[in-house]
Amino acid sequence: MSRVLVTFGSKHGATAEIAEMVAETLRARGLDVDCVDAGDVERIDGYDAVILGSAVYMRRWRREARQFIHHFSAELEQRPFWVFSSGPVGDPKKDNPAWLEPGRTIRELERLGVREHVVFGGRSTSSGIPAQFRDRRDWEEIRSWARKIAASMPVTA
Ligand SMILES: Cc1cc2nc3c(=O)[nH]c(=O)nc-3n(C[C@H](O)[C@H](O)[C@H](O)COP(=O)(O)O)c2cc1C
Repeated sequence: MSRVLVTFGSKHGATAEIAEMVAETLRARGLDVDCVDAGDVERIDGYDAVILGSAVYMRRWRREARQFIHHFSAELEQRPFWVFSSGPVGDPKKDNPAWLEPGRTIRELERLGVREHVVFGGRSTSSGIPAQFRDRRDWEEIRSWARKIAASMPVTA
């Protein structure tokens, strides 16, 4: 059975919940999945594949997610890995494309061979944001991305 690590950088929990949903979706497809805060991962050599996600704050990934990349870059290069950012909140019409993903980090991940990077809507409880746009996480979009990843992995005993 393929072993998969889902790991994340999250300040207020929204990204952690996305990571949990990805992990659950992969488990439902028969994969052996651990879901761990990026700051708590000690080794990744036991995993066949990795999914890394981070919240974006002021156009940057969380420090623990950036440190994960630097710490495990050699191992990441040797296995399939996928990445997501959790960011945009507020009225989607006002999204600034330049703020949706941290460009430098994503370019670094591309150099390491990331299979795909996606940006999921985020969540903020700020009262300055209209209530209907405070949680833009689309669970079906997240599950569907995870199912696509699961489909590309062998599920053998
Ligand atoms: C101070 C602040 C700065 C933010 N900066 C960005 C940003 O640059 N780009 C973006 O897409 N989202 C930005 N966001 C939205 C967060 O990334 C979003 O709320 C995310 O889902 C929070 O994840 P977490 O709960 O896991 O920490 C910002 C939010 C706050 C409060």
